Amino acid sequence: MTASTDELFSLSERYYLPVYRPRRIVLERGQGARVWDRDGREYVDFGAGIAVNALGHAHPALVAALTEQAGKLWHTSNVFVSEPPLRLAEELVGASGFARRVFFCNSGAEANEAAIKLARKWAAAQGRPPGRRAILTFRGSFHGRTLAAVAATAQPKYHEGFEPLPPGFRYVDFNDLAAAEQAMAEGDVCAVLVEPVQGEGGVTPATEAFLHGLRALCDRHGALLVLDEIQCGMGRTGELFACHAYGVAPDVVTLAKALGSGFPIGAMLVGGQAAEVMQFGAHGTTFGGNPLAAAVARAALRELSAPALRANVGRQAQALRDGLAAIDAELGLFAEIRGRGLMLGAQLRPEYAGQAGAILDRCIEHGLLLLQAGPDVLRFVPALNIADADVAEGLARLRAALAAFKG
Ligand SMILES: Cc1ncc(COP(=O)(O)O)c(C=O)c1O
Repeated sequence: MTASTDELFSLSERYYLPVYRPRRIVLERGQGARVWDRDGREYVDFGAGIAVNALGHAHPALVAALTEQAGKLWHTSNVFVSEPPLRLAEELVGASGFARRVFFCNSGAEANEAAIKLARKWAAAQGRPPGRRAILTFRGSFHGRTLAAVAATAQPKYHEGFEPLPPGFRYVDFNDLAAAEQAMAEGDVCAVLVEPVQGEGGVTPATEAFLHGLRALCDRHGALLVLDEIQCGMGRTGELFACHAYGVAPDVVTLAKALGSGFPIGAMLVGGQAAEVMQFGAHGTTFGGNPLAAAVARAALRELSAPALRANVGRQAQALRDGLAAIDAELGLFAEIRGRGLMLGAQLRPEYAGQAGAILDRCIEHGLLLLQAGPDVLRFVPALNIADADVAEGLARLRAALAAFKG
């Protein structure tokens, strides 16, 4: 006899650290942009596992890469090498246009930890004393849940109760170049860490002027420009790297999420002189560059680099924007639709502030998996290869869910 959804949730309540509050369905299988729960209900997936399943569920090329590698070699540690991560590093460097070296890890937070450590080493190598190795980040950012990544995340709600946090982080407003300039004027900032499109903080793109201005400030002060492309990278903006979409050359880019398209892997890509500051013994992780993860990521990178996929991102982004505008014209819920490529946010009008979670509940009832970005923003990050029919059906279900929400 198979366990019921209620029975499984009682296991979650009993055994899990209660840091998550998942919606009350148990997902069992997926195909493309559709997912089924254990009761056989089907959902359109506009969340893609928080911008991870960039090629949808059960993509044949990823399944083939994983199963082929699974029969060969699972793990070597970094005491030995294997071909998949070496090839992946070569391919990422080639595709990036700026990077010279890669460090592999297992998650976004770890990629940012690596970047934070690298920035500090960079500063140390320049002879900056520890008190003059600050990293500038931006309000509304999200860089992960490890302690240094939390300190880099300029949102107090992620800090509370975890103090003392690692020192050496400075925060200013996102898209406020003058504030960044002022913060860097003292000359103690060794790196700027920024999401080209803020994700968790509300799906807010950096302006072109802001990102280009940060590049110029970093050049002026000998600081590293570190782009956190963990959510917005790997094709989501319509270019493989978000920095390509902006035409900005970074020193460091961090990746995770769509890099493995569902298999855990993170990476830090480093260019220029910064690529030489981390030497033998400076950093490491047991699972980084795991052959299984690398084999999947290589297949994902091939698919995500295809011109047809980029074209699809543009077309479906427009379809989503048009559909959201039509829903808004009818129901009047959104103050703004914003984002870049297939990373879109619908800001709720002030009268619906704090209601994003309640809307997501209605979406589940209507067969749609959707995300929020904070309490006031609906977040749309579907698979980048999502088909016309799935976008149309997801929008129809969203309209029905929002109509039900409004009563
Ligand atoms: C921009 C950004 N950076 C870092 C992270 C942390 O990644 P992970 O959850 O894999 O540690 C996330 C996760 O949502 C993210 O969106």
